[in-house]
Amino acid sequence: MSLPAGLVEALAAAVGPERVVVDRERLEPYGRDESELGTFPPEVLVLAGSAEHVQRVFELAARDRVPVVPVGARSGKSGGTLALRGGIALSLEKMDRIVEIRPEDLIARAQPGVVTGRFQAAVEKHGLFYPPDPNSLDLCSLGGNVAENAGGPRALKYGVTREYVLGLEVVLPTGELLHTGKRSIKGVAGYDLTALFVGSEGTLGVVTEITLKLLPRPRHVATALVCFRSVEDASRAVARVLARGIIPRCLELLDDVALAACARTSPFRFPPDAGAALLVETDGNDEEQVFAEIARVAEAVAGEAAGEVIVAQNEAQRRDIWETRKYLSVNLKALHPRKLSEDIAVPRSRIPEMVALTREIGRRHGFEVATYGHAGDGNLHANVLFDTDDQRPRVEVAVGEILRAAVDLGGTITGEHGVGLAKRDFLVYEQGAEQVALQRRLKAVFDPLGILNPGKIFPEPG
Ligand code: LAC
Ligand code: ZN
Repeated sequence: MSLPAGLVEALAAAVGPERVVVDRERLEPYGRDESELGTFPPEVLVLAGSAEHVQRVFELAARDRVPVVPVGARSGKSGGTLALRGGIALSLEKMDRIVEIRPEDLIARAQPGVVTGRFQAAVEKHGLFYPPDPNSLDLCSLGGNVAENAGGPRALKYGVTREYVLGLEVVLPTGELLHTGKRSIKGVAGYDLTALFVGSEGTLGVVTEITLKLLPRPRHVATALVCFRSVEDASRAVARVLARGIIPRCLELLDDVALAACARTSPFRFPPDAGAALLVETDGNDEEQVFAEIARVAEAVAGEAAGEVIVAQNEAQRRDIWETRKYLSVNLKALHPRKLSEDIAVPRSRIPEMVALTREIGRRHGFEVATYGHAGDGNLHANVLFDTDDQRPRVEVAVGEILRAAVDLGGTITGEHGVGLAKRDFLVYEQGAEQVALQRRLKAVFDPLGILNPGKIFPEPG
């Protein structure tokens, strides 16, 4: 669409001309994210500085029903911030203040543009801990984490973003400003609107401030790496650890393709017959207990493991182990220039089956699939690797089969990246037409004009 006459001028008058961008070159990067879904640039970008700015944007957008797409760090993996129908990109990146940290209450308040890693470092200075650790934490921001209900390796023990959001300041597309939730740990008054906004992928309202729960920072962490001959052995080992009642803080899986990719840069020399690895981490305040727990993990996986369990002896070795995991995505691209990365989750007991199915589907379509991820949660990143654009339609068929297989095993099409644009055609397969219809009605209550982030989560009619 093209913007209604006078809208850009009205936006500039409302929020200040320096906060309104129409230059095509500057808009272009706002049309992309980490989803590989293409480029959908907005027609105008507004860099909000306050909740009031957000209200003014909605007020002006509503007049001519111009779409408004909230955007933050653009690190999303499901296309949630792509401006499918043009319109206004409403960026929260400049609202990046940590408003307060209250050690005595174990809470903090922050604006949505605060980068997650910076927030973690800030609370750690007070001896506190904010566990959610999406792999992109040096880049992504709290607002995006709230929108997607982001997870990460530590979700196994500590849960995902939703577990930490106590309250929100939100602007609805109608212009109403709400303060949901509470600043106490307990609180059950009314419907849990806070929980509804968390994970709503920027389709119900725009978050302008977040109240987060914190924990005391665990004083000791132990990190270990275990190799296996096959991914089947490794996934059986995951089941064995959990069945023993051990919940490490992370239990990350890498399959053979993922290992081959990391071997390129990893400081470790993996044994040549290693077909998979698990990265395990335990934490707590008592150093002996933390290491005893790693020892129990080692014992639990001894039957399946190939070779010794490598326990990091110092901070540098811990970092080395994590580097292996962190640069996986980049290293996979060195194997094949293109990939579609999924984030299916299945009940933990079904991990071995899911891994086997994923490989079988890849094989049948002639693609290499790298599987890695948060195996302890049953949350697997199945990456279908390919080389050229003309392979893409077939890759999408394979991905569709992987998503449906996850649902058939009692799992979900997305464990942490959201539905967005990427998976909207699969939502009905997972949840059924009635539940999707109910969610559409809910969306219309918050956004009666349908101006906020249209085209996301739900399939296009027809
Ligand atoms: C990860 C992202 C892709 O776990 O979720 O690396
Ligand atoms: Zn992940």
